[in-house]
Amino acid sequence: MPSWSPFARRSVCPSRPPPEAAALGRRGLRDVNTAALDTFRAELERLRVEAEAALGAAADAGAVEAARVEFLGARSGRLKSLQKMLGSIPAGDKPAAGRHFNEAKEAVGVLLAAAQARVERVASHVLPIDVTLPGEPVPRGHLHPITQTIRRVQEIMARLGFESVDGPEVEDPWHNFEALAIPPEHPARDPLDNFYLAVARGTDPLLLRSQTSTVQIRVMETRRPPLRIVSLGRVYRPDTADATHYPMFHQVEGLLVERGTTMAHLKSVLRLFASSFLGGDVHVRFRPSFFPFTEPSVEVDMEWGGRWVEMGGAGMVDPAVLSAVGYDPAEVSGFAFGLGVERIAARRYGVNDIRDFYRNDVRFLRQF
Ligand code: FA5
Repeated sequence: MPSWSPFARRSVCPSRPPPEAAALGRRGLRDVNTAALDTFRAELERLRVEAEAALGAAADAGAVEAARVEFLGARSGRLKSLQKMLGSIPAGDKPAAGRHFNEAKEAVGVLLAAAQARVERVASHVLPIDVTLPGEPVPRGHLHPITQTIRRVQEIMARLGFESVDGPEVEDPWHNFEALAIPPEHPARDPLDNFYLAVARGTDPLLLRSQTSTVQIRVMETRRPPLRIVSLGRVYRPDTADATHYPMFHQVEGLLVERGTTMAHLKSVLRLFASSFLGGDVHVRFRPSFFPFTEPSVEVDMEWGGRWVEMGGAGMVDPAVLSAVGYDPAEVSGFAFGLGVERIAARRYGVNDIRDFYRNDVRFLRQF
């Protein structure tokens, strides 16, 4: 009889089934084993559902932690107890049971992580302040009156076609003196009248600029006429501070170079500027003066509210200066002016002492 014959198999395997299996038949034995696995799976599912409910209901970190200990606790957590049941699962079903166990453990782990993230998010959004309380007013500052003046001057001059440009505050003698026709022996270059720096550029000393006329040269060196520029910035002179002087102050420099420019244009521009800046009718008066870089040169006085005040210097750009920067004085002419910003600000705001601008007294500054 061939060995594969079912009859032969029965005859070579004569062992008797256990009594209960004998009662249930071979099929019944498998049902007993499956029942253990099914129970195990059902327990895992119940645990998962309950963990989901507990973690979903946990309102804070404490409640989440309590749920973690209950379900995933390493010593007496419910998952740990179920793990012990694995031992009673028949050997053939153990791999499946182990897989189900791992899946359930992972699912509860994911639920736990989500709950932890949720309570953390909520906690970080809880503000430690009562947002319904009225806020504390934050005092608003404003620009310094000199900065306000600078911006106003730039605005007015822009309307007259003057572009605003800047220049450096540390200068060389060429731009501060020589190109402006101030020769080496001129008293304006005296160390007692300037802030020379301890550092030099090569053999050239450096100094804090004593006037914004330096910017005239810097602009003319790099551009061709026609030109209309205005430059506002700090200048430095070792002057003793008093009601009308300060060692650091600001100037507004104006320069126009075009064909056929005359003193009449200069006076008109200054008058238009002064009327806009101070408001109302302003008279401008020229007094003969001298500046090495303008010819003729004048002092500019302005009358406003019945009082004459000296505001600065001005004149027609000296042909020697035009030549020094490569312009042809036969072709173009120009005018320039330099006014003290603190002086015009003091006049406009009725301030009697320009030192008040720099005392940093908020009671004074608050008024502007
Ligand atoms: C000049 O500085 C010339 N560069 C002005 C100029 C420009 C002339 C263009 C011609 C052409 P002066 O040294 O006078 O000029 O100064 C001009 C103005 O600056 C003065 O009229 C005054 O209003 C102001 N000023 C001068 N020194 C001080 C100071 N120590 N404190 C405050 N303002 C000052």
